[in-house]
Amino acid sequence: MKKIIVTGGSGLLGPWVIREFLEHGYEVLNADTRPLPEPLCPTWITDLTNLGEAYGVLEGAYAVVHLAAIPAAYLRPNEVTFQNNVLSTYNILEAASGLGIKKAVITSSESSYGIVFAVNRIAPQYVPMDESHPQLPQDSYGLSKIVNEETAAMFHRKSGMQVVSFRLGNVISPAMYERFPGFIHQPVERERILWSYIDTRDAASAYRLAVEAEGLGAVAMNIAADDTSMDMKSRDLMAASFPEVTDFRAPLEGYETLLSNELAKRLLGWQPVHHWRDYVTF
Ligand SMILES: NC(=O)c1ccc[n+]([C@@H]2O[C@H](COP(=O)([O-])OP(=O)(O)OC[C@H]3O[C@@H](n4cnc5c(N)ncnc54)[C@H](O)[C@@H]3O)[C@@H](O)[C@H]2O)c1
Repeated sequence: MKKIIVTGGSGLLGPWVIREFLEHGYEVLNADTRPLPEPLCPTWITDLTNLGEAYGVLEGAYAVVHLAAIPAAYLRPNEVTFQNNVLSTYNILEAASGLGIKKAVITSSESSYGIVFAVNRIAPQYVPMDESHPQLPQDSYGLSKIVNEETAAMFHRKSGMQVVSFRLGNVISPAMYERFPGFIHQPVERERILWSYIDTRDAASAYRLAVEAEGLGAVAMNIAADDTSMDMKSRDLMAASFPEVTDFRAPLEGYETLLSNELAKRLLGWQPVHHWRDYVTF
């Protein structure tokens, strides 16, 4: 049985990723500073900013799925976020490379484009925003994610390891759909994430498909639902919040995502299947 190490599995997204791999016949070990909220699989309590601990948890693994991070800007002092996220990712990839592991998936963010936490407000240069859009963060969290994508590319060059980086949209677990009626007609609240979202179950399937894919090298891809999280059409959202944006690279006739998910669909054969309208009464 192939063994997958999931780091940061004790957080919001982790249990869904762990379940996805277990349900598809993998053995899973969670590596986190804290225990799982439910006993899905064994957990090693570990701090991945320590390289020796990263080597320890990865021994015998087929692949590593790296979720561990401080998951936003301004939760902790800036340098703490940067240091934790950059060093833990470096260590995981250094250890994976050193142990001859052939596949890793790491977790970047739409925050790396810089709009979310911008101190000096910026707009997207075009929509839907794809992976070629400039990454222009003004915060240490977004910067840490860009550094991690570069670290991934470096280890791919060095060892040939396939390292996929997922730029996740806003992660939504099924329980969080109850919040939707409070914002689906209020563009301002979620404008800085371009109203994106991704269901934890659809994110989880993307991680599995990335582990099962071959020959991807080092590549970053957006992971978002097909629609926005809003009950307003995408062009109307843009007109309300970013009227200065005129470069529309898709027809945008309805509620289509403004964070393009085309690359992940094409490279992974992935299709998000959970959409908020199926779960929210309004
Ligand atoms: N939640 C979102 O909307 C969102 C959006 C984009 C990207 N992401 C990214 O997705 C990943 C998962 O996010 P989440 O929302 O589940 O976060 P979370 O905070 O709920 O879970 C992250 C886990 O990582 C662990 N961790 C942090 N530093 C660690 C270290 N040094 N060693 C070991 N474990 C460590 C934490 O204990 C926690 O359990 C993160 O990389 C985050 O940056 C999240």
